[in-house]
This record gives sequence, structure tokens and C-alpha cells, in this order.
Amino acid sequence: MRSYSDKAVDKKLICEVIDCARLAPTANNTQPWEFVVVTDREKRRAIARLATYGPFIADAPVCIVVLSKDSKYFLEDCSAATENILLAAHALGLGTCWVAGHKKDYCEAVKKLLSIPDNVIVISLISMGYPAERPSPHNKRALDEVLHWEAYT
Ligand SMILES: Cc1cc2nc3c(=O)[nH]c(=O)nc-3n(C[C@H](O)[C@H](O)[C@H](O)COP(=O)(O)O)c2cc1C
Repeated sequence: MRSYSDKAVDKKLICEVIDCARLAPTANNTQPWEFVVVTDREKRRAIARLATYGPFIADAPVCIVVLSKDSKYFLEDCSAATENILLAAHALGLGTCWVAGHKKDYCEAVKKLLSIPDNVIVISLISMGYPAERPSPHNKRALDEVLHWEAYT
């Protein structure tokens, strides 16, 4: 979802979404994550200016920044948490978009903007709000193309 209505998202719903994120599985139960929720319009606009493919962050009432302490499986762990956020939000009638964070040069500027310490890694930026449209689903590879029974071939 990249188009949002102006309707604010109740804090209780935001907490519920983050509560689902923190329950994601992690290697050795590391739970390396932290979450910064940004609702301030000016900060969202600033993030949107930084994130190359996330201009719509300016218009979504909420931006969730998923962060991690360094650990062996931080990317897998925090990707699972990110996906939990997308699924929980959808279950609550909210729309989201996963915007790239990790590997992007703009992460350093996002960290500065949000006072994130040096040892904390940006994983993803998630726009969230009430959908203003119903986008048609993207094409997905068919089940019988991707599903292999017992061995790859
Ligand atoms: C790691 C990752 C990074 C992504 N980064 C962006 C992004 O920067 N901007 C954006 O609009 N969408 C981004 N997306 C969303 C993908 O474009 C989207 O999931 C994909 O096109 C499939 O569409 P669907 O999720 O609606 O099925 C990202 C998704 C992932 C998993």
C-alpha cells in the first residue's frame, strides 16, 4: 500500500502491531530488534526525502523503523519481525509498505535524524496507515512453479 488516507492510527493499534513484531521467531531467541515509531509529520517528510523509493512515507500517518543490534542472524530475525508488522497491520485493517533500509546509503542519515546510536542497524522503514486505494495484487510466481516435493528437480 503506497497511498494512505489522512485518518490517524490509534496508538493502541500501533502498539498491537509492534507487539506482534516482537513475537517473531529469532535465532537462539536473540530478539535483537528495537522499533522507532514516527508519527511526526516533519520527521516523516524528512525520512521520505531520504528514502529513494519511499516518497509516500510523507503521507502515511505512521512510519515504523525496524532496527537491530548486531548479531549473527540479525537480518533474518528482523525481516521476520518486519513481515509480522505487515501481517498484523493487514489483520487490523491497515495498509503498509516495506521500504528498504538495510544496505541503503541513506540509513546513516535516517539514524542521525532519529538519534539512533552507531551500534544499531537500520533494517526496514514501514509506512502504515488506512488504505486510500485497493491496489491490484502483483503477479506472483505460480505454486506449481516454486513448489518442489522431496528434491529440487
Ligand atoms: C527488502 C524489501 C525492500 C523493499 N523496498 C521497497 C522500497 O524501497 N519502496 C517500495 O515502494 N517498495 C519496497 N518494497 C516492496 C516491494 O516492492 C513489494 O513487496 C513487491 O513489489 C511485491 O509487491 P506485494 O508485496 O504487493 O506483493 C520492498 C520489499 C522488500 C521485501
